[in-house]
Amino acid sequence: MSECEVTTEPSAIALRMQQIKHKLVVLSGKGGVGKSTVAANLARSMSAKGFKVGLLDADIHGPSIPTLFNLADSTAKQFGNELIPLEADDIKLMSSGFLIADPDQAVIVRGPMKNKLLGQMLGDVDWGELDYLIIDCPPGTGDEPLAICQHIDLPDGAIVVTTPQEVAAADVRKSIQFCRKLDLPILGIIQNMSQFSCPKCGEPIYLFGKDGGRRICEKFNLAFLGDIPIDPAVGVSGDAGECFLKKHADSTTAQAFQSAVEQIDMALKRQHPTDEGECDSCCSGCSSSETCPTHA
Ligand SMILES: Nc1ncnc2c1ncn2[C@@H]1O[C@H](COP(=O)(O)OP(=O)(O)OP(=O)(O)O)[C@@H](O)[C@H]1O
Ligand SMILES: [Mg+2]
Repeated sequence: MSECEVTTEPSAIALRMQQIKHKLVVLSGKGGVGKSTVAANLARSMSAKGFKVGLLDADIHGPSIPTLFNLADSTAKQFGNELIPLEADDIKLMSSGFLIADPDQAVIVRGPMKNKLLGQMLGDVDWGELDYLIIDCPPGTGDEPLAICQHIDLPDGAIVVTTPQEVAAADVRKSIQFCRKLDLPILGIIQNMSQFSCPKCGEPIYLFGKDGGRRICEKFNLAFLGDIPIDPAVGVSGDAGECFLKKHADSTTAQAFQSAVEQIDMALKRQHPTDEGECDSCCSGCSSSETCPTHA
């Protein structure tokens, strides 16, 4: 870590963040629900649409982004005070995994050091101009998402990931309260591992129950951003660091990720009705009130 010890004034972070149109955090109260997988595939889907995208791995102790992009043995270069993000699939990437030479070494930092490190990963990294910076958070409502929200002075929105079962939903409700306490707008909920299609007959099998994510949306008046099915190819591509969306472009799962990106875009437009490409149909006329958390 020592080679990357550079000082970051808060204003340096602000200057970097000014160049990024949308800062989005992916979080969940629950571990293992697919936050990193969703974050990586959303980033790849946005990049494939032609947007300039960055992906920050805020999971300091359990970074997944290096593996998901087949960069587990790579380290970030540093020029002066600036860290150069790694790049894959046209996405700029930064992770604590790129700041240590040995990928099996544990990053042993707590509270204030973690806060500082996340500040460096925002402010010292040459992110350049981006349309989206996706921030993959570790599970829970602890130091990392809090530090990110404080450093950025509020991201544009949170994408909350859940799986359908009640044990996940219970923790996700805590994430919702976390966002509300911080005034962090929630763009909506993605229900990952929503169903498994029987390989023989195609019938959906609800391995983890059904519609827990949708029920949370109804209860908390949040937008539902989509269902991502359980797809073994997602896990295989993730482990190999390959782009699932390219390799399985015609799959239902790839379409589900693309549709989630469209829903996120719509949620952002609802939030910023004065941005380019207004959501006239929603916030001016509100004809789509069933999906509009502001006007529902
Ligand atoms: N839709 C899916 N279909 C099949 N496997 C999936 C799907 N989503 C995630 N997985 C697999 O589930 C496992 C956990 O996913 P991931 O690491 O993205 O979760 P996470 O929420 O980021 O975990 P953590 O809380 O540890 O950060 C991985 O092996 C991943 O490949
Ligand atoms: Mg993760």
